[in-house]
Order: sequence, then C-alpha cells, then structure tokens
Amino acid sequence: MKIIVTGGAGFIGANFLNLFVPRFPEHQFINLDKLTYAANLESLRGIESLPNYALQRIDINDAAAVDEIFEATDPDLVVHFAAESHVDRSIHGPREFIRTNIEGTFNLLEACRKHWPSGDGRLFHHVSTDEVYGSLGETGAFSETTAYDPSSPYSASKAASDHIVRAYHRTYGLPIKVTNCSNNYGPMQFPEKLIPLMVLNALERKPLPIYGRGLNVRDWLYVTDHCEAIWTVIERGRIGRTYNIGGNSEKRNIDVVDLLCHIIAEETGSDPSELLALKEFVADRPGHDLRYAIDATRIREECEWEPKETFDTGIRKTVRWYLSNQSWVDDVRSGEYRKWIDTNYGERAG
Ligand code: NAD
Ligand code: TYD
Repeated sequence: MKIIVTGGAGFIGANFLNLFVPRFPEHQFINLDKLTYAANLESLRGIESLPNYALQRIDINDAAAVDEIFEATDPDLVVHFAAESHVDRSIHGPREFIRTNIEGTFNLLEACRKHWPSGDGRLFHHVSTDEVYGSLGETGAFSETTAYDPSSPYSASKAASDHIVRAYHRTYGLPIKVTNCSNNYGPMQFPEKLIPLMVLNALERKPLPIYGRGLNVRDWLYVTDHCEAIWTVIERGRIGRTYNIGGNSEKRNIDVVDLLCHIIAEETGSDPSELLALKEFVADRPGHDLRYAIDATRIREECEWEPKETFDTGIRKTVRWYLSNQSWVDDVRSGEYRKWIDTNYGERAG
C-alpha cells in the first residue's frame, strides 16, 4: 500500500511515522510536509533512512504541487495531519489557519476526487479535534452526534474542514473517515502547548504561566494511543463514519502543572516547592473553552480500541523524554520560537 501522510514532521504525524514505518515494511510511506515552525526533522531521524519512507517538502496550499504528488505516487491511503494546530497562534493570526486547515484540506480532497475516480480500495483519513464541539459545562461528554460549536479560529477552521471532508463523501462518494481526538501529549510536542511548555520552563526555572485560574479541564491522551486509534479506525472503522477518540483522563490545568512540578522534582532530585513557586496566573485566553470530555463508546465497541497509557504512566514517560532529548529541544527553540513566546506571554502580565 502507498500511504501519503501529511504533516508527518509535526508532533502527532512524527509519532505516527515512527510507529508504523518500521512496523509495516511492506507499505510505502510518503510524508508531505511544508516544514513550518512546528516541524522538526530530528523527530524523524530514526526512520529517515528506511527504504519504505520518503519526505516531500510540499505546501498543501499549493494545489498544483499536491496534484503532482498524487500523479506521481498514486496513493491508496491519505492520513491527513497537516494543519496549523495551536489555538493561541490562531487568536494572534488566524489567516494561516483558514488557508492551511480549510483550503489545504480542500486541495487534498480535490486531488483524491480526480485521481480516485471509483474510490475503490482507497481512503482519505481526516485527523481532527474534539475542539470542534465547543465547550462543555461541569458535566457531560462529546459524542459523534454532538452539534459543532467551535470557539477559536483554530477549532472553527478544523470544523469547516470536517464538514468539507464529509461533504465529499456524501456528494462524490469519496471514501473518507474522520477522527476527533482530545488533547495529546508525549514526546516531540512543540513547546508552545501546555505540557512541554511547562516541562521546559520548570527545568529552566522560568515562570509557569497558567491562564485564568487554571480551572479549565482537558481530557489528555498519550500520543501513541492516538496513533494506534487512527490505525485501528483505518483498518476497522466504517467508511463515511466519524469516531471520537479520548483518554478518559480529565484534568484541570492547575492539577496538571502541579503534578508536573512533582514529577520533575523527583526525576531531577530537586525540591518540588522551588518548582511550584514558579506558577503564575496570567490573563486568560479569549474564548477559552471550559471543559472537554469524550464519549469514546463508538470506537471502543466498533473497533475494540482502548488507550494503553494512563495519565500517570504517560506523563512520566513524557518528562523523561524531554530530559533526555536536549538536542531536539535546542533544535525547535529557534528565533521564531522566542518571538512567539514574547508575543504570546508579553501580553499576559502576571
Ligand atoms: P503540529 O503543529 O505539531 O504539526 C503540524 C505539521 O503540519 C507540521 O509538521 C507542519 O510543518 C505541517 N504543516 C503545517 N502547515 C502545512 C502546510 N500548509 N502544508 C504542509 N504541511 C503543513 O500539529 P499536531 O499537534 O501534530 O497535530 C496534527 C493534527 O492532529 C492536526 O490536524 C490537529 O488539528 C490534530 N489534532 C491535534 C491534537 C493535539 O492535541 N495536538 C489533538 C487532536 C487533533
Ligand atoms: P493547549 O496545550 O494550548 O491546548 P488546547 O488549547 O488545544 O486545549 O492548552 C491546554 C490548556 O492549557 C488550555 O486550557 C489552555 C491552558 N494553557 C495555560 O494555562 N497556559 C499556557 O501557557 C498554555 C500554552 C495553555
């Protein structure tokens, strides 16, 4: 099978390729990635010389380039990760989110429509987020039939892309599947997101910026559990269907940060109170969703998928990964990264 993986140099895409390229030597994996600030080729060192892996530096907003790669590779499967993925960046500059997440997805769908006239045996797997459903109150969970109600330019752009993907199935019969997953964490996540940002700041004894009062709740899923879930849906899920993926692991942000301080102190032999003292409550994110939670009954019953990691095992693995991969960290912390930290946190005085 020939598999195009878009965004394979980003956090989840790289974890996906690191798992499945060695596991399936009979499949050919082609990574289509523009290599934005969020990409890191260090994440692919372990597989880059394998014969069933290739990287093509392509912007999915370039319809002609996307079409050419379909012409050249004739893929059987597209796993679509490529996106602008960070909510705070979407608040500061939504344009790239609209372009890549909506138009980029549209370009891929158009290439599928043209090159897969019958669709038989092909699949476009769209990787999406639970943020399309908006915010929950204190109770309840998102199911696949929850109405879309996105709050940020990021989640609105992902919501739009989900609708277009499903429209291509209904209108043109394109074989698609969609997965909507909760917050991922694990190795190789860009340190703009909560968990890696807190880990790296704590290690450098920098402030730990907590938006609002830290009472927002996220459901955390270890990244390889997400990747396995996607593969399971590709193999066992029904065409045209949506599957929610969650970790059954709801945590308040403040509790995540406290736990991280304790684990980092333990792992580095330092005093937890020194790290806990770095916490700083800063201005809240506009439109900040209060709570996300996932009802994962469908994927559990139809595909027999369950997460393997608990938050306690996954978070420890994650901290250890950042502790032992300093060169990866140095690589992502370019001038662009420092500029972002200044822009985002400069406006959020403690
Ligand atoms: P990421 O930001 O770490 O990586 C995104 C990747 O896409 C990067 O390698 C980047 O270079 C590439 N990319 C961006 N614009 C591109 C373009 N125009 N053309 C080609 N490549 C481009 O993102 P991630 O956290 O790995 O998320 C991957 C996907 O999973 C996204 O679609 C995201 O919406 C979805 N998702 C993420 C989470 C999460 O917690 N991170 C949860 C659920 C769903
Ligand atoms: P984030 O990792 O950006 O993921 P998302 O917004 O997609 O859920 O943020 C996770 C939670 O952590 C969210 O409620 C916002 C909060 N947060 C902070 O409190 N401080 C920070 O510095 C960041 C980046 C996020």
